[in-house]
Amino acid sequence: MGGDVGIGIVGYGMMGRAHSYGYTVAPVMRALRNHPRLRVISGRDREKVAHAAGAYGIPSWVDDWRELVRRPDVDIVDICTPPGTHAEIAIAAAAAGKAVICEKPLAVSYREAASALDAAGKARILNAVGFNYRRLPAVSLMKRMIGEGAVGEVRLFRATWLSDEFADSTIPFDWRFDRSMGGTTIADLGSHLIDLATWMAGPIAAVSGQSETFVRERSGRLVDVDDASAALVRFDSGARGVLEVARVAVRRPCDFTIEVNGDRGTLVFEYARLNELLYGEGGDRSELYGMRRIRAEQQSHPYARDWWPIGQGVGYGSSFVNHLGDLLDRWPDGPWEPDFAQGAAVQAVCEAIERAAAESRWVEVSEIKRS
Ligand SMILES: NC(=O)c1ccc[n+]([C@@H]2O[C@H](COP(=O)([O-])OP(=O)(O)OC[C@H]3O[C@@H](n4cnc5c(N)ncnc54)[C@H](O)[C@@H]3O)[C@@H](O)[C@H]2O)c1
Repeated sequence: MGGDVGIGIVGYGMMGRAHSYGYTVAPVMRALRNHPRLRVISGRDREKVAHAAGAYGIPSWVDDWRELVRRPDVDIVDICTPPGTHAEIAIAAAAAGKAVICEKPLAVSYREAASALDAAGKARILNAVGFNYRRLPAVSLMKRMIGEGAVGEVRLFRATWLSDEFADSTIPFDWRFDRSMGGTTIADLGSHLIDLATWMAGPIAAVSGQSETFVRERSGRLVDVDDASAALVRFDSGARGVLEVARVAVRRPCDFTIEVNGDRGTLVFEYARLNELLYGEGGDRSELYGMRRIRAEQQSHPYARDWWPIGQGVGYGSSFVNHLGDLLDRWPDGPWEPDFAQGAAVQAVCEAIERAAAESRWVEVSEIKRS
């Protein structure tokens, strides 16, 4: 067995809670090679961060993340603040020699993401981005099946993320409506889809895009974040794709779907049924034409042995347990994945879609990386 790994969490909001949960539950569910020790959490509001520290079982708190980053008992700085703060914190943590786990998206621009990647490379620290959905058992199984040839050669990748988070025009302005702090909806929701797309179907070469902001003012302030966007995608491999993200889809809570069509089969994942995978196999007997519903909890499936007996299912929280558990198991030698290089590559695609939408043209992803 390994030793203790000191964790400092920056931010006590929804992701500060989710990551605290992940570190706490991971050693309960699986035999980790190292012991995560939640040491400190930071937040600007002293009362709220003190409350969060108590609720999440973290023994100390600070009101300035710089203090957390400097602490000798912190090995991993886990960034759970808005995207506009990520690069600065990640760069400071790298300079202090800490490993960094950063929530998605890695930054609000490719330039910032690349600077975080550069800092991590120069400091030679372990780094990871919070694309937790890779670690949902059914999504992991989907990736594995594609790799094993279950759909043949990938031709089409289709993904949507529909939410009603911004549907109510009376929701007051906060950081999510400020592009420099929250990034676009393309980056917020789309980064997950782009990560899954590139993980399953390889790098994206070029995109087109369209974006719209339907509610342009909140609390008297201009909103410069898209409410909904869509992109056509061309992969390096020649495969084609369609991505759609929306935060104004009424009565759609957090509905995301990914579908891959290969030359021999189809796989579909729907978040609303997150323990299942639909599989249509072209070679099936013709009288079985259709899709079979795989229960992604069978002992041979990814992560199944870490969880409950088949039929009990897992939920959103398990993705954080699986993600953080995997990273802890690879401490201190790595490799960690998805890492900042993958986070920056996703950011380049996000920015390419933003530019394609703004300029009504196809944009090569390499154009973003060059500029
Ligand atoms: N992987 C996922 O499933 C998932 C889900 C939701 C959010 N996220 C990501 O996690 C990050 C945080 O989102 P959240 O939902 O936890 O947000 P949140 O609003 O619930 O919490 C944000 C935290 O950051 C702090 N904060 C706000 N503005 C700050 C600033 N300018 N400087 C420093 N700290 C600041 C807040 O006080 C709070 O502690 C974002 O990057 C978001 O995209 C990921």
